[in-house]
Amino acid sequence: MFHSPIVPRVRKRKRSKSPEASISRHEGVKFEDVRVHLLERKMGSSRRRFLTHLARSKGFIVEDTLSDAVTHVVSEESQASSLWKWLKGCGLKNLPMMHILNIIWFTDSMREGRPVAVETRHLIQDTLPTMAEATTPTPVATVSQYACQRQTTTENNNKIFTDAFEVLAESYEFNEMEGPCLAFRRAASVLKSLPWAVQCLGATEDLPCLGEHSKAVMEEILQYGRSFEVEKILSDERYQTLKLFTSVFGVGPKTGEKWYRRGLRSFSDILAEPSIHLNRMQQSGFLHYGDISRAVSKAEAQALGNIIDEAVHVITTDAILALTGGFRRGKEFGHDVDFIVTTPELGKEGHLLTSLIDQLEQEGILLFCEHQASTFDMSKLPSHRFEAMDHFAKCFLILRLENSQVVGGLHDAEEGGRSWRAVRVDLVSPPIDRYAFALLGWTGSRQFERDLRRFARMERRMLLDNHALFDKTKKEFLAATTEKDIFAHLGLEYIEPWQRNA
Ligand code: CTP
Ligand code: MN
Ligand code: MN
Repeated sequence: MFHSPIVPRVRKRKRSKSPEASISRHEGVKFEDVRVHLLERKMGSSRRRFLTHLARSKGFIVEDTLSDAVTHVVSEESQASSLWKWLKGCGLKNLPMMHILNIIWFTDSMREGRPVAVETRHLIQDTLPTMAEATTPTPVATVSQYACQRQTTTENNNKIFTDAFEVLAESYEFNEMEGPCLAFRRAASVLKSLPWAVQCLGATEDLPCLGEHSKAVMEEILQYGRSFEVEKILSDERYQTLKLFTSVFGVGPKTGEKWYRRGLRSFSDILAEPSIHLNRMQQSGFLHYGDISRAVSKAEAQALGNIIDEAVHVITTDAILALTGGFRRGKEFGHDVDFIVTTPELGKEGHLLTSLIDQLEQEGILLFCEHQASTFDMSKLPSHRFEAMDHFAKCFLILRLENSQVVGGLHDAEEGGRSWRAVRVDLVSPPIDRYAFALLGWTGSRQFERDLRRFARMERRMLLDNHALFDKTKKEFLAATTEKDIFAHLGLEYIEPWQRNA
């Protein structure tokens, strides 16, 4: 799969020396200890050339390139955060020792004819959160290999790389190569946590989970703006077909593969094939394909929250309903809306989900429902193998959402003024003493959950899943009523839901 590195290594950009640049590069130097670099960003090249010439004429050393030799960086960027994002992506070792200065320091120095002492008013302060503040007491920010020790908001500064990694991960998943699939998912997750954008490969040196292959892909993207390996996958018929088939509700990689091997390539191929029996979920998946393949907006998720909350209140005044999944993590869009519903009294949750389904049915908004009764049995825990599904009662629904119920109307409504859309909704109903574990497990992201379990197992000799936390050393279950309790048991700094977008 991985093609040989036909790509030359990234070379340090060398600026061609202009006549001015050669003037008194070292002759007439008066201040040996100060090495200035003027950032061209926002300053522009002609103004930079002029200021460089001016400073050199006054005996300053002005470095053409930004390297670790520079002591004073001068910038005319007004946005400190975007400047720092850029600087941190440059892979400088010496950045913490450098003065990052506004133009006032430079003009003051020119006026005085010497480098003036750096004062607070000259500094462009770093406002970015430091990485993994929670886990590293030292000022040197190191990034943990575990997503549960990183803070990852929905702001992704490295989307060009993570999008590529996700294509690669998916392609390996389709080929059932779990190892490389996971490696790319981990690599993507690390880059998502960075408060800055990677600008050169050097900036990735101290980052965990980035292997040779990941770095080669990044190098291509840095140099050419795209990865040829990724482009090859995207144009591959098998990849495209599996991607299309698995976009249908109820169709996983296994079924997709089966259809592909039978020579089917499109939805019409599948629907025209008499020997293919679609299960109920897949039938609904095709029926509502247009709607449920379209992203659900936050406003739509809120509207569904209100609808379900009202339906729950018809059944009982004593219920707990919580939004979970991607929307709890602060995402603007999702592929579905996830809720936890239970009762404050243990054992009373038994019929809650079936009653709720009945209620939605009566309201005429239930377009599809697959209900799975609880198979939860505390005596069968702890489970040493992580199972894809937990044992709580749950249902996978498609609900009808009216345009009039959504603040600002339906998202991305088609032309022709549809008055409603179909939306995927997941409901899970754990007993109240399992609530914290279920909430933590269903909030995600998937990568965050994977690393929580991996951290528990590898670093703490504990087993974590959506039901419980088991301490293998003490041979006992650890109780928790909130997510904070679970983080505390694991000896982890608490990570807020909106920081779990790993
Ligand atoms: N989950 C789970 N068991 C399931 C289904 C989901 O534990 N049977 C968890 C997943 O691990 C995930 C969370 O529930 O962390 C939400 O799943 P999902 O809705 O698929 O993903 P989201 O993160 O909500 O992303 P999206 O916005 O695309 O829905
Ligand atoms: Mn979801
Ligand atoms: Mn879901």
